[in-house]
Amino acid sequence: MIRRIVQFQQALGRAFLYFRYRSRSGYDAARFWEQRHQRFQSDFRAVASVPEEEHTRYPKQKQQFLDFLAAQQIGAAGSVCIEFGCGNGFWGQVVLASGAKRYTGMDISATAVAHCQKSVPGGSFRCCDLGSPGEFADIQADMAISIDVTQHIVSEEKLSQFLRNMSTSVCEGGHIIVTSYTGCGNQYTESPNNVILGFFRLPALRWVYAWDVSTIQKHLVGCELVGSASIWDKTILAFRKTGRERK
Ligand SMILES: C[S@@+](CC[C@H](N)C(=O)[O-])C[C@H]1O[C@@H](n2cnc3c(N)ncnc32)[C@H](O)[C@@H]1O
Repeated sequence: MIRRIVQFQQALGRAFLYFRYRSRSGYDAARFWEQRHQRFQSDFRAVASVPEEEHTRYPKQKQQFLDFLAAQQIGAAGSVCIEFGCGNGFWGQVVLASGAKRYTGMDISATAVAHCQKSVPGGSFRCCDLGSPGEFADIQADMAISIDVTQHIVSEEKLSQFLRNMSTSVCEGGHIIVTSYTGCGNQYTESPNNVILGFFRLPALRWVYAWDVSTIQKHLVGCELVGSASIWDKTILAFRKTGRERK
């Protein structure tokens, strides 16, 4: 009985999100993320679907991220680093503590950016939609990172722009580090079936998408995949910008 009540509440919650944030290209990311960051004041719940992971996920991911960089011989020390979807600033703190000379975090949520400006004193921050064309060529970073963000870019057109922006912001020879749910083709991770009491069907907001490595590679023109590994429940990929288009 309790399980059914919980399922009922969850299904109603998903339907509520659908009617509030749906849009022609999937969901209204700007409004969705801004309201989420405002509601949780950019704490862990603003960036995570499983709040119980607060004390396990970041330490584990951080170790996996640093081990991955070391294995790929990508040094954060002395580098210019930029982050796409900085959320609460956790990864800014990680790269600055690893010796990055300059760090810029960007996020679609003004509340997240304001929070980071206070909590990551060594960084600088911008508020922008990274799935839209922007001015990134002035940055020329050694490394552009994006952890736990591509799954929330649910249209391929926006993903393509997001990855082009990453590539544009990096100098030749620099690295692009992204995470994704890989290995299951390109598809939403959640079922569209939002069934209440076993038969009554409501729509659900679809805001989590798995992009396969080949799709990410396709949109990172002039970049080659140099390594991949597991990070928490996803895959972390490193691309090197060569400037050469693949045949
Ligand atoms: C799941 S959170 C991950 C945050 C952070 N990278 C981390 O690992 O804790 C996704 C973040 O991406 C941001 N985001 C989502 N879509 C975006 C877009 N189109 N442009 C810029 N930021 C976006 C959200 O505001 C949110 O802070």
